[in-house]
Amino acid sequence: MSKSSICIKASKNQGQKIITLVSKLELIDKSLEIQRNEDSLCIPIARQLNDSELTTLQKQAPGMQLSAAVFTEKKLPQTLTQILEKKLSPNILNNLPKALDIIGDIAIIDIPPELKLYENFIGEAILQTHRNIKTVLAKAGAIGGVYRVREYSFISGEQKTQTLDKEFGCQYHVDLAKAYFSPRLSHEHERIASIVQIGETVVDLFAGVGPFSILIAKKNPQVKVYAVDINPEAVELLKINVRTNRVENRVFPILGDARQITTTKLKGVADRVIMNLPETAIDFVDAACQALKPKGGIIHFYAFVRSPNSIEQLKTRFSQAVESTGKKVEVFLYGKSIRETAPFESQVVLDAKVA
Ligand SMILES: C[S@@+](CC[C@H](N)C(=O)[O-])C[C@H]1O[C@@H](n2cnc3c(N)ncnc32)[C@H](O)[C@@H]1O
Repeated sequence: MSKSSICIKASKNQGQKIITLVSKLELIDKSLEIQRNEDSLCIPIARQLNDSELTTLQKQAPGMQLSAAVFTEKKLPQTLTQILEKKLSPNILNNLPKALDIIGDIAIIDIPPELKLYENFIGEAILQTHRNIKTVLAKAGAIGGVYRVREYSFISGEQKTQTLDKEFGCQYHVDLAKAYFSPRLSHEHERIASIVQIGETVVDLFAGVGPFSILIAKKNPQVKVYAVDINPEAVELLKINVRTNRVENRVFPILGDARQITTTKLKGVADRVIMNLPETAIDFVDAACQALKPKGGIIHFYAFVRSPNSIEQLKTRFSQAVESTGKKVEVFLYGKSIRETAPFESQVVLDAKVA
C-alpha cells in the first residue's frame, strides 16, 4: 500500500544527521517508509513545520527542502489475536489461553477442548507472531509420574522436544519429553542463588536439568553443589548443562533417590537443601534433615497448597515433619505463594532455618 505525503528531502550524505533531528522534533510519519534514492532521501513528515523548526533544519542540513512524494506504508506486525480473529468467532477466540510458555525456541500452549479443531491454525499464528519460535507444542496431559514429565502433542513447526533455554546468563539443554523444566520458576532460581553465602555446601535434592544448582554455582564461585535426581535422562542433561555453563568444579551431579543418597553419600554435608518436588516433598523432609550439617542449616521447601490459610497450615506440617527427625524449625525466614498452578491451587515456598 502506498500514500502521498509532504516530506523533507535532503542529500544522502546528510542522511543520518537529518533523520536524528527530524525524529527529535517528532516530525517523522512513522507509518511510512523513508524513501532512499541514489543521492537523496525523503523523510515523510506527519505535520507542518513551524518557522523555528525550518530554520534549525536548514542550518543543520543546508540544501534541504520541503517536497511531496509517494511512500510505501509500513507493514505493522500483527498480533496473535489479529491473525486469529480473521478465522475464529469472538466467542471461540475468548477461550484462547492468555499464557504461552516459552522454553528456548519452543512455545507451549494449553488448548481448551473448544479450540482443539483450530489448533494447527493457532500454532501457525504463533509461529508467525513469534519469530524466535521454531516449534509449537500443546499440553496433552498433566505433569505426572516420578520424573514429573508431561506429554505434549506437536501442533506446528519442527517436530522436536529438545531446545536450549537461557535464564539469567545460564544455558540449559532441555528435553521436554524426558525431563522436567519450567520457565515459571526462573524467579525462584534467581532468588535462591542470590541468598547463598560464600563457602556453603548446597544439596539440590530434586535437581532436574539443573536450574537451581547451576545458577547458584555460576553466581557463587566459592560454593559446592550436589545435584541429585532420580531420572537418568535428567541427570544426563544436567551433566551437559554443568559443562555448558563451566561449573564442573562446583556442581556434582548424582543419579539416585534422594533418601538413599542422603543416607549414603550426602549425610551431614549441607548448609542448605533445596526441595523442589512440590507434589511429595513433605515425604522427603527426613532426607533433607539428614543432609544438613549437625549444626543445622536452611531448607527451601516447595509444596502445592489448596486453601486460603494454607501457608500457616503448611508451616505446621513442615515443622512436625522436621521434629519427627529429632531436629527443630528455629524460624521461618520466608513463606510465599510463587505461582498459581490450577484454580484454587498454588505453589508455595517456605525457607526454614532448621537445627
Ligand atoms: C519438579 S522437578 C524439579 C526440577 C528442578 N529442580 C527444576 O526446578 O527444574 C522434580 C524432580 O525431582 C525428581 N525426583 C522425583 N523423585 C525423586 C527422588 N525420590 N529422588 C530424587 N529425585 C527425584 C524428578 O525426576 C524431577 O526431575
